[in-house]
Amino acid sequence: MQRQSSSFIIRHASSRDVGHVSDILTESFYRRHDHKVNFLLRYFTDLVYPLLRYGIMLDLNSRFSEQTPCYACLVATHTANKSQAIASLEICMRYVPTKSYRGFWLGRTMQQYPYIFNLAVHPKWRRRGVAKQLLRAAEQTVKQWGFSRLYMHVLEDNHPARNLYDEIGYRIHDQEGAFNYWLLGQPRRFLLQKKIGATK
Ligand SMILES: CC(C)(COP(=O)(O)OP(=O)(O)OC[C@H]1O[C@@H](n2cnc3c(N)ncnc32)[C@H](O)[C@@H]1OP(=O)(O)O)[C@@H](O)C(=O)NCCC(=O)NCCS
Repeated sequence: MQRQSSSFIIRHASSRDVGHVSDILTESFYRRHDHKVNFLLRYFTDLVYPLLRYGIMLDLNSRFSEQTPCYACLVATHTANKSQAIASLEICMRYVPTKSYRGFWLGRTMQQYPYIFNLAVHPKWRRRGVAKQLLRAAEQTVKQWGFSRLYMHVLEDNHPARNLYDEIGYRIHDQEGAFNYWLLGQPRRFLLQKKIGATK
């Protein structure tokens, strides 16, 4: 698979991308890029950064080598440097709650669906439509697997991601963390769903 529109190419990741993808994920999920971060936190992050990156690399390597059916890691590259990933996302199968209840105490029925995780764009490449392009490619992949729905989680206070998902048609399917929200003021986690129209 290789999709190209504007100056970005989307393709399946290979083991050669693990280093770049680890950098993107560490930068995106463990380093804050606003000016509110104090000196101590910045220093601490720099100190543990190699460890975090190494842990992410190990996880990625093991997912790549497991060859699980219905697992994919997509990366985006710029046409000027096709070997350097600048953004990535992963898709796996995951149990999600359906709308129907098995009974008040038994909770909801669960069903396996494709699930997007670890979507991240390197800070230098944000606001150029890369994430949108990656998500469109993920929808195509899931359609080829024969599924009609796609899920992902987002934190209530992740406004850039929420704007993005809202813009391309993801809707809230379920909410988690209401207890911590009411008691500790922590952000809830929304499970989002998009119907993409295929067979399953
Ligand atoms: C969220 C993230 C993936 C967006 O990537 P991106 O490539 O910059 O997004 P796009 O350029 O495709 O943006 C598409 C739309 O999303 C919304 N959006 C993206 N970033 C935004 C921001 N910082 N503020 C407000 N809206 C934003 C906008 O509506 C944007 O359209 P516009 O640029 O025409 O206004 C990126 O900011 C990121 O990697 N964040 C850190 C990791 C993360 O939070 N991942 C999501 C986990 S659920």
